[in-house]
Amino acid sequence: MTSFIVRPATLADAAALILLDQESNPHPWSATLVEEALVSRVNWVVEATLKERAADAQHNETTLVGWLTASLLFEQSELELIVVDQTQRRQGLAKQLLSAWIEQTAAQGVIEYLLEVRESNIGAIRLYQSLDFDEVGRRKNYYTTEQGREAACLFTLNVCV
Ligand SMILES: CC(C)(COP(=O)(O)OP(=O)(O)OC[C@H]1O[C@@H](n2cnc3c(N)ncnc32)[C@H](O)[C@@H]1OP(=O)(O)O)[C@@H](O)C(=O)NCCC(=O)NCCS
Repeated sequence: MTSFIVRPATLADAAALILLDQESNPHPWSATLVEEALVSRVNWVVEATLKERAADAQHNETTLVGWLTASLLFEQSELELIVVDQTQRRQGLAKQLLSAWIEQTAAQGVIEYLLEVRESNIGAIRLYQSLDFDEVGRRKNYYTTEQGREAACLFTLNVCV
């Protein structure tokens, strides 16, 4: 049986997050960027624990299967990256990460949440819409693709104080 918890990330998670990002993000970050995010931004991870009973002993194996990193500037916070292990998707884990980000930073005074997403990333767009993010604009030709360029969709969410 696998159980999941969402917790803040630390620099000790760097190696596992670099691997997760390389394996599950179509546009992975460099190791340096991941480490910088862990020291300069707010971060949460999803930790999965696989509990197995072998003979008389219980064996627990823990892995990181999700990561969210966001910048924090006074009353604003901007999502920089969210990624969930390909084998663990559509179980609500990204939604749990986004909820932890919003609930915990709102308690610190954040009232506006920002993010950008590739217009072709329909799954992520549906995810943000499911949490009431509104599209407020587009930046044409913002991202490179294998075929050329594509737009960034800008989303915001305002929470009441
Ligand atoms: C986008 C991503 C983080 C979603 O993670 P996830 O854990 O599968 O998302 P959740 O299970 O929390 O999804 C919650 C809701 O979002 C929507 N959603 C998520 N993925 C979707 C998809 N591929 N297609 C359509 N809707 C999707 C659905 O409404 C879903 O609810 P449902 O499963 O009950 O229908 C994951 O697909 C991923 O890591 N992608 C690669 C990295 C990336 O593109 N990150 C975003 C840009 S920075």
